[in-house]
Amino acid sequence: MTGMIIDEVASRLTAIEGRSWRRACTTRDVPDDEGLPLGTLPPTTVFTQGREFFCLDDTCTHDTYSLAEGWVEDGTVECTLHLARFDLRTGAPLRPPATAPVAVHPATVVDGLVYVALPLTYLIKEKAV
Ligand code: FES
Repeated sequence: MTGMIIDEVASRLTAIEGRSWRRACTTRDVPDDEGLPLGTLPPTTVFTQGREFFCLDDTCTHDTYSLAEGWVEDGTVECTLHLARFDLRTGAPLRPPATAPVAVHPATVVDGLVYVALPLTYLIKEKAV
């Protein structure tokens, strides 16, 4: 799990009302086939597919299991507990038993670092990466 900080780049990214940009990790920190949990409450996770990065709430909406350990494939993450599948772009449930979406958060990469825009209500563990 990693913490996040606000650095010079984060403070210059396009502002999104109700959210704050945070430096989350390096692009190399994120595994290809599963997620990288972030130090937030509620829990969030960064995923990657190809050259894109995504940030989603980490908790499966079916039965509160961590999606960070899920299998990432074809722009989706599969929960390993009961095999529900979620779209990494929208958070939409694509396969039962989950029927509710997970929240998605804007993510971008600047100079090899992943930045995520989280709601101001999320609690964040501060830590430099
Ligand atoms: S907890 Fe994720 S599918 Fe059941």
